Amino acid sequence: MAERRKRVFSGIQPTGGIHLGNYLGAVRNWVSQQDLYDNIFCIVDLHAMTLPYDAKGLRARTLELGSILLAAGIDPQRSILFVQSDVREHSELTWVLATLATFGELSRMTQFKEKSKGSERVGAGIFFYPTLMAADILLYDTDLVPVGDDQKQHIELTRDVAIRFNSTFGDTLVVPEPDIKPVGARIMSLEDPSKKMSKSDPSPASRIELHDSPDEIRRKIRRAVTDSGSEVRYDEANKPAVSNLLTIYSLLADLPVSEIEQRYEGKGYGAFKGDLADLIVEQLAPLQARLAELTADPAQVMRIMTEGAGRARAIAAPKMERVRAAIGVGLPEID
Ligand code: TYM
Repeated sequence: MAERRKRVFSGIQPTGGIHLGNYLGAVRNWVSQQDLYDNIFCIVDLHAMTLPYDAKGLRARTLELGSILLAAGIDPQRSILFVQSDVREHSELTWVLATLATFGELSRMTQFKEKSKGSERVGAGIFFYPTLMAADILLYDTDLVPVGDDQKQHIELTRDVAIRFNSTFGDTLVVPEPDIKPVGARIMSLEDPSKKMSKSDPSPASRIELHDSPDEIRRKIRRAVTDSGSEVRYDEANKPAVSNLLTIYSLLADLPVSEIEQRYEGKGYGAFKGDLADLIVEQLAPLQARLAELTADPAQVMRIMTEGAGRARAIAAPKMERVRAAIGVGLPEID
């Protein structure tokens, strides 16, 4: 009998656009691995509520992100694409897992520490964020979670909580593995290579958005910081900015870094950056053309995601029933 395909689950927040870090660290891998796995991809709108946000624009951003993911190559024939809040079981399982995660564990999460630093009013949602993420993953018997490096700690917590659930209530949850690629899992800011490229950076010049125009892309790459010297060489410790640009080049051109170093030997940063900008423009062009088509047909995108929610619910609802039985809530079954 054929072995069950491994189940992949991953998510992304609808916090406006997506940048080259999200794309190279996560989405591009989701797309390229679709044939290997049984895939579920989720737009996590409930996670987007954990920091102050504009409620009026959230639905539009969710739809926009759906269009971007489809334009990037998520194929509804091979993958389920849906909106987190459409499947209520995510919220229900979050509560259950919050009773198992410890205060100490959640307080140690780097993201919680960073995002709550300096704020006067820290909502409890940002504290419970990893239990919602664990619920996303565990509802679908997920084997593999393809993500960027910044999510590693959350997946470790998911594993710990799943193991704790199983030992407390009996074997119920599948313990997932992270799928973090050795290259591209941490794309850095174009303005400060000590910080990751991030949607929450107040400076738009720090990141390339997938929908940026060719002019914007060229300007941002031209202005991207470089290191002292003029040699195009990969050296994370001494040349972090150039190393980051080399990583982006290598992934988009599908060439080893050593070949790119050779190509630009003696040519300096200018020629390298000019070609890198052209490469990004060229690689994003087909995606942008598909995005324009999908943006003109929101009904099609909504239909795909509504169908996706139905398929996701068909997996999540019986799983939640098993969890309810295991933890003993509700009334006894009558035979
Ligand atoms: P989010 O929306 O911040 O980012 C989506 C994906 O992009 C990756 N990423 C990066 N990769 C490389 N370099 C970067 N600079 C970079 N910035 C972001 C992230 O690692 C992520 O894979 N908590 C998650 C969403 C989530 C989720 C889940 C993920 C919710 N539930 C269940 C997996 C499974 C987040 O905020 O990702």
